[in-house]
Amino acid sequence: MYTNEMLESMKKVEAARSANAVLEPRRMTAEEKETLLATYHPDYKQGEFAVLQIGANKGEKVPTELAELLQANSRVNPAEIDLSKVDYDVDVLIIGGGGAGASAAIEADNNGAKAMIVTKLRIGDANTMMAEGGIQAADKENDSPAIHYLDAFGGGHFAAKPELLYKLVNEAPEAIQWLNNLGVEFDKDENGVMITTHGGGTSRKRMHAAKDYSGAEIMRTLRDEVWNRGIPVVDFTAAIELILDENGKAAGAVLMNMETHEILIARAKTVIIATGGAGRLHYQGFPTSNHYGATADGLVLGYRAGAKLLYADTLQYHPTGAAYPEQIFGALVTEKVRSLGAKLINVNGEAFMHPLETRDVSAASIIRECSDRGNGVHTPDGIGVWLDTPMIELKNGEGTIEKRIPAMMRMFGKYGIDIRKEPILVYPTLHYQNGGLDITADGMTNIENLYVAGEAVGGIHGRNRLMGNSLLDIIVFGRNAGKNASSKSKDVTLGALTLEHVNKFAKEQAEAGIKTDVVSPKLLPNYARRK
Ligand code: FUM
Repeated sequence: MYTNEMLESMKKVEAARSANAVLEPRRMTAEEKETLLATYHPDYKQGEFAVLQIGANKGEKVPTELAELLQANSRVNPAEIDLSKVDYDVDVLIIGGGGAGASAAIEADNNGAKAMIVTKLRIGDANTMMAEGGIQAADKENDSPAIHYLDAFGGGHFAAKPELLYKLVNEAPEAIQWLNNLGVEFDKDENGVMITTHGGGTSRKRMHAAKDYSGAEIMRTLRDEVWNRGIPVVDFTAAIELILDENGKAAGAVLMNMETHEILIARAKTVIIATGGAGRLHYQGFPTSNHYGATADGLVLGYRAGAKLLYADTLQYHPTGAAYPEQIFGALVTEKVRSLGAKLINVNGEAFMHPLETRDVSAASIIRECSDRGNGVHTPDGIGVWLDTPMIELKNGEGTIEKRIPAMMRMFGKYGIDIRKEPILVYPTLHYQNGGLDITADGMTNIENLYVAGEAVGGIHGRNRLMGNSLLDIIVFGRNAGKNASSKSKDVTLGALTLEHVNKFAKEQAEAGIKTDVVSPKLLPNYARRK
């Protein structure tokens, strides 16, 4: 199990615990943060990015792995696809079965539209299901959407699209009520008042949670609602290319059955991309907290059809992925652990930073501690710093861990680690795609009738997202896209379907001299046994 170095270091953590528990490490200044990020944050490693040679964002840099997919070959040969044989004909086609897709489907259904979800895995196989810590909403007396806006705008380096962030924070309290009414079991006190905590970079306690499986609880509820309404869900069926009509408007998708590889055609008056994130692309070799299907498919589909990306060069590395044991390497250790009082401690037992700095700053600070400062704790397979979980019960009393973060207790407990008694080792893990497809406040891209919701959107959070604003954005922007796409579908008369944009993209590729064997969207990660 633990090496001698780990055990020696753990003794130092234990010895300093009482002192560290009451210590308030100071927050970094803006200047300190800038220098730290520029030196240690993965987004700033220029060698890890490539400049796009074709498409709507030609000339902009994106992670090398994403550039390869955005500029890859289509999975379809348009000459071989019969667009006159339509298998599904709907008002609103929703690509993706996570929280954003389900919320969109529910609102489109409410609006009387014929909506359908297609998903390459199963409804609920999504990053929503993996989300732990909570969902932000300014619904307490000492808080307001304006304060929520300021926290998120600053945390995102003042880069969020103001109209998107405005919508996010203003519609947050109603989103919580919507979820509560659908049946989400939020944590409440004995008077039925929702319990809220801080997250990194929040100036008010506005994190609503369902213990530390908030996303699973939200996804469970949304999935039940989709099923109960009888909204069609086509599982194990991937969208592999968008279909436009002769006027260049979104008009459906080419689908592929994941088992049989049968090709199916879905015609739709409006399309919503809700395909989630990209953690399984393992940018810069990082492990990930994401679900198995997070391979940036929506970005690829949209880009090949001519949609613009925004901030595709910025990713979120969650500061606390599990660094030990190896079996859970990269799994999310919720920020709520720090909200409840656990501090980040180096190999010498020192609390080296404020535990609730924003995520990009916290991740960079841990990377610095483990690299140049030489203060990381070596594990048999890597390195990390301690997250001193027993502090939680020192601060809040016995039983807090089991009550508030039972999933964390169970995850480590499986490997013989009792987080009530021992600290755990953490290191940043690839968690979230800050950038994505560019939308206006109605959820639409620059392609008429093509909407986007959830993690596939870029610009809601700017260049760094605060905890709990992602579960919020899938609800706010999922519902928004569902409402607007279904209303829009009522006025749409489709022209003839075409895949000419795929030919056009291939021509651009050839003219730019891009020769590649890669096909995209990727759909699934290609894990192979390491030699
Ligand atoms: O730390 C967490 O529980 C993650 C939350 C989020 O990404 O919003």
